Amino acid sequence: MRRTESPRPGSGTPTGAVLLAGALLVWATASGRAQQEQVYSAFNGQQSYKTLCMNCHGVEGRGDGYLVENLRVRPTDLTRIAESNGGVFPADRVRASIDGREQIAGHGQREMPVWGDVLVWTEQDTAERQAQVKTKIGELVEFVRSIQVAAGKKE
Ligand code: HEC
Repeated sequence: MRRTESPRPGSGTPTGAVLLAGALLVWATASGRAQQEQVYSAFNGQQSYKTLCMNCHGVEGRGDGYLVENLRVRPTDLTRIAESNGGVFPADRVRASIDGREQIAGHGQREMPVWGDVLVWTEQDTAERQAQVKTKIGELVEFVRSIQVAAGKKE
């Protein structure tokens, strides 16, 4: 069967991740990647979460965003990461999950976008850009830490 021009949501393909990547691309191209990056770089962790993560992980991070039905894998409940890790928030693991570049090398498939690549925004993948990507991911890690259910906020 030939690929249809406009696949219906919920048909299972393309996945939410693909849809989202497409949306991000259109968004970035339409407004100019550099310009978009400028807006984005002023965001704090919570604002970044709302823009980049909420569609899948939900308003409160419980893994119930509106794209969920298009995904093969249910997004993690981000409020219970510490709880399911013996009360300790695994900051390094969370950082690596968000970044995704190390993981993608090992596993073929991943439902979540590889944010380490997305966040470069501009075509210049310089050391400075990489430092900024690291800062942005660090802010997201701290935001995820801040929404843990009471059990474990400390490292
Ligand atoms: C397209 C949907 C989607 C988007 C957007 C998304 N995620 Fe995810 N995320 C997932 C899915 C699905 C998983 C479960 C693991 C997997 O298969 O990728 C996951 C897993 C995670 C994990 C792993 C938790 C653990 O146990 O280590 C973290 C942390 C995370 N996401 C944070 C984020 C953050 C922060 C953002 C925004 C920058 C984000 N996600 C955006 C779908 C998404």
